[in-house]
Amino acid sequence: MSTILSIQGSPRGERSHSRRLQEAFLRAWQARQEGRQVVRREVGRVGIPAVTEGWIAAAFHPEPEARSEVMKADLALSDLLVDELFAADRLVLSAPMYNFGVPSGVKAWIDQIVRIGRTFAFDPARQGNPYTPLVTGRKALIITTRGDHGYGPGGANAHMNHADAYLRAVLGYIGITEVTVVAVENDEFGGEAFAQSYQRAERSLADLVESF
Ligand SMILES: Cc1cc2nc3c(=O)[nH]c(=O)nc-3n(C[C@H](O)[C@H](O)[C@H](O)COP(=O)(O)O)c2cc1C
Repeated sequence: MSTILSIQGSPRGERSHSRRLQEAFLRAWQARQEGRQVVRREVGRVGIPAVTEGWIAAAFHPEPEARSEVMKADLALSDLLVDELFAADRLVLSAPMYNFGVPSGVKAWIDQIVRIGRTFAFDPARQGNPYTPLVTGRKALIITTRGDHGYGPGGANAHMNHADAYLRAVLGYIGITEVTVVAVENDEFGGEAFAQSYQRAERSLADLVESF
């Protein structure tokens, strides 16, 4: 049975284009086969806490089994979010571009799930690459929307697009290397340019439903 973990990154609700496209994709994907599961995790409209000094001390404790009750409590949300990630075999993340990167809720979620000993292993003595990704065998779809345009590969603003590159890098770091990005541009300009971009994204997502 397939399960999608759906991460909603926009602070906007019904007005959010990325969220609307994501929901349409999830509905179509689920309708294709009985028993498909979608687990939703909201990160745009609720505060996912930033990591704290206590969190860092607990996460990097040299003997995880010797963590105190306070340390375990500091990691409780992170453990839950990591469990959610492992329980799914697919990830669909929607996020607007904010200041050339991702909204803070998405960043906070990432900081909670990139966990030493859980989603990646680190062994300084290991020859070559000391890092081992632990979230393997999964694929991801990123649905992103942008106010301006030209952020795609080869575009005039591609060098300013730190959102896609960041998401690909961090997902790859924990083992999710099969990542598809579908983007809508021109939200701030509206009109025909936005409508065409939106429709292109809808078509790409409709095409993806079968293979995802
Ligand atoms: C705080 C903030 C920062 C933004 N930064 C950018 C940006 O760097 N580049 C861009 O093209 N659009 C930027 N935008 C526009 C959004 O990316 C765009 O409106 C997007 O479609 C919103 O997504 P949503 O409809 O899913 O909420 C920004 C919007 C806000 C509110």
